[in-house]
Amino acid sequence: MQLKKDLLVFATLFYHFSMVYGCDETERAALMSFKSLLTDPSNRLSSWQGENCCNWKGIKCSSSGRVIVVNLRNPNPDNVLINVNKEVFSYSKNTSDFVLKGTISPLLFTLNHMQHLDLSFNNFMFSKLPTEVSNLTKLTYLNLSNAMFQDSITTQFSNLTSLRSLDLSCANIVADLSSISISLTLPLDLDFGSMISFIRYGELSSPNLRWLEGIRGLRYLVLTGVDLSKASESFHWAKPISSLSNLMSLQLSKCKISGRIPIGQLLNLTNLSTLKMRSNVLTSSIPELLSNLTTLSVLDFSANYLDGHIPYFPQLKGLSVNSNPDMTIDLVSMFSVPWSKLTFLDISFARVGGVIPPSLSNSTSLTFFQADGCSIQGSIPSSVTKLKKLSFLMLNDNYITGQLPVNMSSLISLQHLSLLQNSLQGRIT
Ligand SMILES: *[C@@H]1O[C@H](CO)[C@@H](O)[C@H](O)[C@H]1NC(C)=O
Ligand SMILES: *[C@@H]1O[C@H](CO)[C@@H](O)[C@H](O)[C@H]1NC(C)=O
Ligand SMILES: *[C@@H]1O[C@H](CO)[C@@H](O)[C@H](O)[C@H]1NC(C)=O
Ligand SMILES: *[C@@H]1O[C@H](CO)[C@@H](O)[C@H](O)[C@H]1NC(C)=O
Ligand SMILES: *[C@@H]1O[C@H](CO)[C@@H](O)[C@H](O)[C@H]1NC(C)=O
Ligand SMILES: *[C@@H]1O[C@H](CO)[C@@H](O)[C@H](O)[C@H]1NC(C)=O
Ligand SMILES: *[C@@H]1O[C@H](CO)[C@@H](O)[C@H](O)[C@H]1NC(C)=O
Ligand SMILES: *[C@@H]1O[C@H](CO)[C@@H](O)[C@H](O)[C@H]1NC(C)=O
Repeated sequence: MQLKKDLLVFATLFYHFSMVYGCDETERAALMSFKSLLTDPSNRLSSWQGENCCNWKGIKCSSSGRVIVVNLRNPNPDNVLINVNKEVFSYSKNTSDFVLKGTISPLLFTLNHMQHLDLSFNNFMFSKLPTEVSNLTKLTYLNLSNAMFQDSITTQFSNLTSLRSLDLSCANIVADLSSISISLTLPLDLDFGSMISFIRYGELSSPNLRWLEGIRGLRYLVLTGVDLSKASESFHWAKPISSLSNLMSLQLSKCKISGRIPIGQLLNLTNLSTLKMRSNVLTSSIPELLSNLTTLSVLDFSANYLDGHIPYFPQLKGLSVNSNPDMTIDLVSMFSVPWSKLTFLDISFARVGGVIPPSLSNSTSLTFFQADGCSIQGSIPSSVTKLKKLSFLMLNDNYITGQLPVNMSSLISLQHLSLLQNSLQGRIT
């Protein structure tokens, strides 16, 4: 019994000892310096005191007491919406301001065992991207998204050859509810707009993407909002991306990319699962060869100037081509084959024109279908009631006639049905 007690005391002392001396003194000082240059209205860094920095909130150390994780992601960023008057307004359940604001102490980049750094959604007041970050060669995760940087991306990250995940976004998607008036709807928590906008949190650009060439291990690359207009003037702008053969997610929305979808380069990304190139100036048609990327699951080409039709991509779970006014979509031929995995489809503001074919119901995974402003004619086929997973059906601003299928109420998953600006008869009960 006594032995057990002694052991316990010993273990406790040992634990205490290792924790007290767990944190490297220079690293602790570097973190204190980092903290000293920031305002912190919600006291997120209140635990940053005392000797053992390994216990501080957001910090993790290796067993030898070196800082390996600094995670200061803003846990409660602004929730921004565009209201019916086209005004930006933010709503937060909590009024405290969780943003850390100020400049980044260069000493942060002396923590050279760091593997994970997340400073997203804080406010570094339009400072330049810290060049010293290139010293952190052990980084596998770097998230500087939406943190109010202003700079040109050239070589700052090219030495970070261990990176698996890099997020340098400087724009964030917001729900635009400005086009919503009242909708014919079943009970619902939040309404959906047909358009999406972005709000800027910084100004980043990159004259070319050659800096990516050495970061071969990248799996996640997110550059939403980074101005690539200069880069994409070059025909081979996406070549550096083709060397990232492990890439699983590539997000280049709102990047001012012009020209064709760079299919030749994308075909090398045989592990690609998510491709988002929303809100650019893409002018080609959607290449059929994308179907060769068998792992591709989510494709978003909304708000571009694409033409042509939608090729058959049986591997897709999500497809959004919203707001490509020159695309011509024939739903009859599109759904002559089932899209068995497709859960999300948004084709709003494209040229559709024809009817919704009964064969739509063969794509039985469909959960979300939006086709506003598509000049769709005819009536809604009664077979839609076979889409047992259908939860959102939005067909505003079309030429739909006739009556709703009688057994519409058998769609037990349906949360939102919106059929404004059509020529339907009868009422929804
Ligand atoms: C609001 O913020 C405080 C910290 O400033 C936190 O303790 C509280 O749980 C938050 N409340 C909600 C509803 O998020
Ligand atoms: C970066 O590393 C170099 C070489 O190891 C060193 O001389 C320099 O002081 C480091 N810079 C910072 C900010 O740690
Ligand atoms: C970066 O952080 C934001 C939240 O602050 C998160 O939404 C985003 O997914 C992160 N990026 C990556 C690549 O993990
Ligand atoms: C990257 O590493 C090379 C070789 O170690 C060095 O010469 C170069 O200055 C580094 N680049 C940056 C941006 O730190
Ligand atoms: C395409 O991928 C292959 C195999 O992963 C790789 O060897 C090749 O270098 C890549 N092509 C380019 C242009 O990087
Ligand atoms: C890429 O896909 C191949 C085949 O599906 C798989 O063996 C490999 O582990 C994947 N690589 C990564 C980085 O996920
Ligand atoms: C695409 O896939 C088809 C069928 O599997 C194959 O014949 C063709 O060579 C592939 N093309 C490219 C460019 O990978
Ligand atoms: C698709 O749906 C149509 C009409 O609902 C039906 O006649 C046809 O057999 C279905 N085809 C497949 C492949 O399931």
